[in-house]
Amino acid sequence: LAGQLSGQLPGQPTTAQAAASASLTILFGSQTGNARHVAEALAKQAKAKGIVANVVDMAEYKTTQLKNEQYLVIVTSTYGEGEPPENAIGLHSFLFSKKAPKLPGLKYAVLGLGDTSYEFFCKTAQDFDQRLTELGATSVLSRLDLDVDYQAQADSWNNELVGKLEPELTAAAGPSAQVIAWPRVDSPGSDATAGAVSQYSKQKPFAAELYTNQKITGRDSTKDVRHIEISLAASGLTYQPGDALGVYFLNDPALVRELLLLTAIARDTPVTLGNDSLTVELALTEQLELTQSYPAFVEKYAAATNNAALIALAADKAALRAYINERQIIDIVRDYPGLLSAQQLVDALRKQQPRLYSIASAQAEVEDEVHLTVGVVRYDAYGQPHLGGASGFLAERLNEGDKVKVFVEQNNNFRLPANDDTPVIMIGPGTGIAPFRAFLQQRDANGAAGKNWLFFGNPHFTQDFLYQLELQNYLKRGLLTKLDVAFSRDQAAKVYVQDKLRQYGSEVWQWLEQGAHLYICGDANRMAKDVQQALLDIVQQYGGKTAEQAQAYLDELRVAKRYQKDVY
Ligand code: 2AM
Repeated sequence: LAGQLSGQLPGQPTTAQAAASASLTILFGSQTGNARHVAEALAKQAKAKGIVANVVDMAEYKTTQLKNEQYLVIVTSTYGEGEPPENAIGLHSFLFSKKAPKLPGLKYAVLGLGDTSYEFFCKTAQDFDQRLTELGATSVLSRLDLDVDYQAQADSWNNELVGKLEPELTAAAGPSAQVIAWPRVDSPGSDATAGAVSQYSKQKPFAAELYTNQKITGRDSTKDVRHIEISLAASGLTYQPGDALGVYFLNDPALVRELLLLTAIARDTPVTLGNDSLTVELALTEQLELTQSYPAFVEKYAAATNNAALIALAADKAALRAYINERQIIDIVRDYPGLLSAQQLVDALRKQQPRLYSIASAQAEVEDEVHLTVGVVRYDAYGQPHLGGASGFLAERLNEGDKVKVFVEQNNNFRLPANDDTPVIMIGPGTGIAPFRAFLQQRDANGAAGKNWLFFGNPHFTQDFLYQLELQNYLKRGLLTKLDVAFSRDQAAKVYVQDKLRQYGSEVWQWLEQGAHLYICGDANRMAKDVQQALLDIVQQYGGKTAEQAQAYLDELRVAKRYQKDVY
């Protein structure tokens, strides 16, 4: 109306509105924090050039805002079979729905983060890019799809983008443009940003002391799960229940030795890695990824060793993906031994990525400690024993009193309800129990009145009931209102957490209608999908809904942040 009164065409922004809206909105779709970090780095760079930039978690973004945007950047990762990360599901499906507005005035750019070991590499970024074009928006910089080792390329893409946007965005905002404070990305329910006051971060991890490493599965268990306690004393690092701890690790010296032996490289051969000069042994031990394999290694190693068979294998993408499955770098070198220089070997390997573990404690209870529940990755394959990188380091090679480099990765999409009276339903089989131990400690410390219902599952009661005494004690004291366990192999027919959910379906429905928040943590591939199906069935049956209505009900819970997942 103001525009019409001042003689402007309807829908045409006033000068003041144009100036106000000439800002950059940066949305991130992120499960493990990588896309969030890239989005925040982009905002920082833009801000340094005088551009007003806002970083927004996609889960917090109001889709009604889309038609007002002039400059939009999307940074997103992709999960599983080309699926959006949890916090991107809402925006992704909105854009592909009939409700999506035409966006002819929008200029945008998309950056994809992914993993080339997966078939649907960066699918979600491709989806957003393609859909925004279909809706009439104009791309200002070509999409880049980046592999796990994304940092350097993400920095230069950000740089290029800021260079392109600077003339338009700073001119539009006018010479007196106010640079607004770089907004903190926080969920409404959280009052402090984890780790915010600390000088330590993913880039600059804290060398923390290991206090405790205790095996909490039985001697006859098929699993080796460790309860780990680490000291954050004097780090300034803080965390909230739902956050994860990032862990850097040293590779197994035996693995490094064998790799050097097979390639006939002397351990003290100097190499360069980024700006560092160091010995090949140090690079392999501290800096590079040996316990996962990835297509790029096979391609580069095949070329460097000039191995025709391996070059042929690398050319067939599907065959290559099948080949690297469960193989570590050493398995590939054992299969195809060859000679290459130390520098070639280092260049073929990617930088180690820290592993994220859901935190199993609340600071209200453990103060400056942080607890983890670590499932040790250990398997026999190709005639040899194998051990996971970080889990092997924590469980087998790190002694109590030794230091481990860590940082806090906040996860605002896995948070207790802000209101302590709200009931919560927690589904966490296996090591998926970890964040719920943190939740329970926090609810206990708060004296929260809300009801707590935990579903836990594992193979055997006698071997695998993680935190049994603590949980049974919580039940006795009434902190846990209900505890339902599924020990899958204690009887002839498998029983899983979703079977327990179904068994108590009517009560689950009642809790949901009472406003309960629903949380799932653990295996993403099978468990989380099967549990979701059980929930849909419960909503259908007890809520008297059709399949579509049940899906819409769960979607609404997700948008309201009452249905949150931390799955891997
Ligand atoms: P299983 O290994 O006996 O089949 C933690 O790993 C627990 O999750 C184990 O008891 C495991 O059972 C169980 N599990 C395996 N597949 C599952 C699925 N699809 N849904 C739920 N639980 C599952």
